[in-house]
Amino acid sequence: MKTDTGYREPVSKDEQKILAARYAIDDLYAKGLLASGMKLGLGTGSTAMPAVARICELIREGTLSGIRAVPTSFQTSIACEELGIPVYSMNSREIGGTLDLAIDGADEVTPELWLIKGGGAALLLEKIVAYSAQRFVIVADESKAVPDSGTRFPLPVEIIPEARTGIVAALARLGAVARLREGVRKAGPVVTDNGNLILDCLWERNESGRSPARPDILEDEINRIVGVVENGFFTRNKPTVYIAHADGSVEVR
Ligand code: A5P
Repeated sequence: MKTDTGYREPVSKDEQKILAARYAIDDLYAKGLLASGMKLGLGTGSTAMPAVARICELIREGTLSGIRAVPTSFQTSIACEELGIPVYSMNSREIGGTLDLAIDGADEVTPELWLIKGGGAALLLEKIVAYSAQRFVIVADESKAVPDSGTRFPLPVEIIPEARTGIVAALARLGAVARLREGVRKAGPVVTDNGNLILDCLWERNESGRSPARPDILEDEINRIVGVVENGFFTRNKPTVYIAHADGSVEVR
């Protein structure tokens, strides 16, 4: 379903992120799926941030109250601190390990609503939050909608540093070329919020131009490799996806 939002086209990618995020929050609130007193998981990245900011606006104007939020990264935690949204851990008494709603961005969304996440290296907490939520919502610009996953945006895999070489070989047996993610303005690899490393994995397209990767099968297979902490395929807890387009419409899948 596509809704015209009144935006003038062409809407840039950055504007699409804001549009998708704000539209989703207002739509969820209007439908009673985001309400006062809820336990919310807050995602990471440039599309999740405007959603967090919109939630903050609703709190400040008194529309939402009693929100208990669990951030999925240092980035989100700091944003909540700046916006004055009180944060909790999944283990805190106020949260008790379950959430009403989780809202996040994605790097890829397939027609099956399988995701790749972890472009910002926050996949571990993002998955804990997403899979602990009764309802999971993704906000994205139209570039994130892809026909299949595995050959375009590299799949992030969070690993224990000591197991790196063995994991690269095991991923090769699953058909993937894995590269250690390097830091930007930091010598050496990216170290995650949990003190681990990230391998970015790509598959080669087959003769028919399709990806050979089956996210629903690989999500479990990759996690069976010793030393893997988590991978960025999200195929369970199917999300509702809000995708903003360059023509100013928002599609809900
Ligand atoms: C963070 O680790 C990711 O899963 C993000 O949610 C994802 O990379 C999307 O980020 P953007 O909204 O910044 O594209």
